[in-house]
Amino acid sequence: VTDLVHTPAELRAALRALSPAPLGLVPTMGALHEGHAHLIRRARLDRQRVVLSVFVNPLQFGPNEDYAAYPRTLEHDLRLAEAEGVDLVFAPSAEQMYPPGYATRVSVPGVSEGFDGASRPGHFTGVATVVLKLLNLVQPQRAYFGEKDWQQLMVIRHLARDLNLPLEIVGVSTVRSDQPGEEGLALSSRNSYFTPEQRRRASVLARSLQAAQARYAAGERQASALLSAARVVLDSEPELSLDYLSLVDGDMHEIERIDNEGVSTLHLSEYRLLVAARLFGVRLIDNMPLLST
Ligand code: PAJ
Repeated sequence: VTDLVHTPAELRAALRALSPAPLGLVPTMGALHEGHAHLIRRARLDRQRVVLSVFVNPLQFGPNEDYAAYPRTLEHDLRLAEAEGVDLVFAPSAEQMYPPGYATRVSVPGVSEGFDGASRPGHFTGVATVVLKLLNLVQPQRAYFGEKDWQQLMVIRHLARDLNLPLEIVGVSTVRSDQPGEEGLALSSRNSYFTPEQRRRASVLARSLQAAQARYAAGERQASALLSAARVVLDSEPELSLDYLSLVDGDMHEIERIDNEGVSTLHLSEYRLLVAARLFGVRLIDNMPLLST
């Protein structure tokens, strides 16, 4: 059965009971869906005891963002955790994580600066700070993050490398909807803000990136041409307001042209098409590699 704890002291006691098995941590903000379940399954495949954190982290929300409205569904989350074989759920309160006098921030300049970092000032500092706290509390051998939040995954990889964190960061591919009409839509807790009709229309992000992939597969190597193929699709949705659409390399630098000469398939998979847009009052992000897998 899945154990539920709320405080760092309860967590320590529960972790002692799990030791010495290797631990995998899956950090989440709850409102769990198939994307989160995929991370849990990956951790279990790696033969770890799985600790799932559920914490809507106030530090990573801007003043005009949806911290208060963010879905909180702990009972549903516990059922999903139990069904997926999670060993321990850590669901602290904001006061437990940030007691009066709390001050420390961890920031990862460079990789966290453009894209979502530019549109959401302080967001990645909030993410890096809470993730480092969770890693210190749980001390797992591995921690699992979705590619869905590509820039976040890059920030966490930098954090782990820069601070010599003694664990492996595992990136897990994006889980997408297979519901008729909304195929390709990246699963997200924020999709719950949408009506079914809006979800169908929100799949335009995924369809735009697929259009760029198709141009790449057809031989196009100029970033501007790949991105215009995506833009044509995005422009078909009148309610959409685009934040960014970009092609980046493994260091999150925008690139102008793919040079295939001497680039291995492995290396090519580090190129990433990124998109962020506002649709029906909700900010959505998505990303795909150049080559669909
Ligand atoms: P949250 O949005 O709940 O996501 C938790 C983890 O699930 C993240 O690593 C995210 O990338 C992954 N995830 C979300 N949707 C996914 C999908 N469709 N396919 C695969 N993985 C998916 O990301 C956060 O919470 C927070 O920023 C957190 C890291 C917990 C720090 O507060």
